[in-house]
Amino acid sequence: MTITVIGTGFVGVVTAAVYASLGHQVWGLDIDEKKVASLSASRVPFYEPNLEEMLTETQKKGNLKFSSDYSQAIPDSDLIVIAVGTPSALDGGVDLKYVMAVGESIAPYLKADTIVAVKSTVPPGTLTALAAVIEGKTSVDYETASLPEFLREGSAVNDTLHPDRVVIGARSKPAFDKLNALHAPLTENIINISPESAQMAKYSANAYLATRITFINQIADLCEKNGADVEEVVKAMGSDSRIGSHYWYPGLGYGGSCFPKDVQELAYFSRKVGEGDNLFNKIHELNQKRLGKLLAAYDQKVGGMKGKKVAVLGLAFKPHTDDTREAPSLYVVPKLNELGARVVGYDPKVLWQDSWGKLHQLEDLAAAVEDVDVIMILVEWPDIISFDFNLVRQPQKIQWLIDTRNRLDACQFVQQGWQYIGVGRQVNCDQKK
Ligand code: UDX
Repeated sequence: MTITVIGTGFVGVVTAAVYASLGHQVWGLDIDEKKVASLSASRVPFYEPNLEEMLTETQKKGNLKFSSDYSQAIPDSDLIVIAVGTPSALDGGVDLKYVMAVGESIAPYLKADTIVAVKSTVPPGTLTALAAVIEGKTSVDYETASLPEFLREGSAVNDTLHPDRVVIGARSKPAFDKLNALHAPLTENIINISPESAQMAKYSANAYLATRITFINQIADLCEKNGADVEEVVKAMGSDSRIGSHYWYPGLGYGGSCFPKDVQELAYFSRKVGEGDNLFNKIHELNQKRLGKLLAAYDQKVGGMKGKKVAVLGLAFKPHTDDTREAPSLYVVPKLNELGARVVGYDPKVLWQDSWGKLHQLEDLAAAVEDVDVIMILVEWPDIISFDFNLVRQPQKIQWLIDTRNRLDACQFVQQGWQYIGVGRQVNCDQKK
């Protein structure tokens, strides 16, 4: 098959590389010529584990090429996958201008029977709007489809090669047959449904996971007040096979490029159909307030951040990525500055972000925590949670360790003299069996 993937962001590049690795002829198309030049040289302009290796391999075999030229990539394509950004609109809905611009650009070059599939997260109704744009500029027969992605940053290559499921939303047997055959090497669990259901499945999956995180955060807050330990609660609750104990860790709230946006968009769609009083509004509101609430509590617990050296560890929105979209660091660092702390930051991959304001960013974790008063672990990067913080423990000094991911052995640190703060955790070391 000849496939063109349009939009070479993280979803587009991973998708293109995986199709190429299956032996298809793939074009990655982007109007950003700088990106195209970089990707043509197998350089990925962001950090995603294993992606550069896959790019190099597939390009060496001649299966993957990048271009900015629609007239070069589109005429031979049996499948066009749209993976451009869908930013939030000012009214809280989704701005589809990039998807529609792609429709305009591909239309003059489409060959008969091509499938135009939308991978970007879009609401039901988008394919009809896209078809209206395309049909104004071509008379060939083509089909539209929905191919939502469910991959996570940091494990995107593996998630795409070994997906839990592939969801295909289409309207004709030939379209289902072609798309099923394309994805058959990846999984047996291919779900054929309508485009509208496929689009809703994507929003619903993300909203459910965001709800789950918000739920456990609320439980953690209660545990802090009533003597229970959220980690023990999860262990007991998760053993119910209907619930499960995975994807169940509390913290500062969810971030990243998907959950905050998708939950807000669902809230918007609900309001638009008269369901102003909906769950999604509340989930978003609770998640948004969470960082401020916890920061105020930490400030109080440590006796005021003013004048203290605070090391903020983990500046990305989660481990194994350099993405800082809706990352806790973007809120935490300016807030600590406001509270009068001296803030030092460390992350193994993230580059400088202006929105931090005053931050002494160091590439060396040991240097970042030297002579520290407060350590705040924002992200559970492996090198951070396995670091021997005892190396910088000063017995004469009160030092705080705020573990917002609950990844450290609390008792061990308490016994070493640290003031340990987790999320929803009780530190009863004497009772530990
Ligand atoms: C998510 C979905 O998992 C993926 O299927 C979808 O296609 C895109 O959005 P991603 O944003 O890469 O992927 O990250 P994910 O690992 O799901 O984490 C999202 C946020 O939730 C992060 O801020 C993470 O720290 C937080 N989280 C996750 C928790 O606070 N607790 C959890 O138990 C899990």
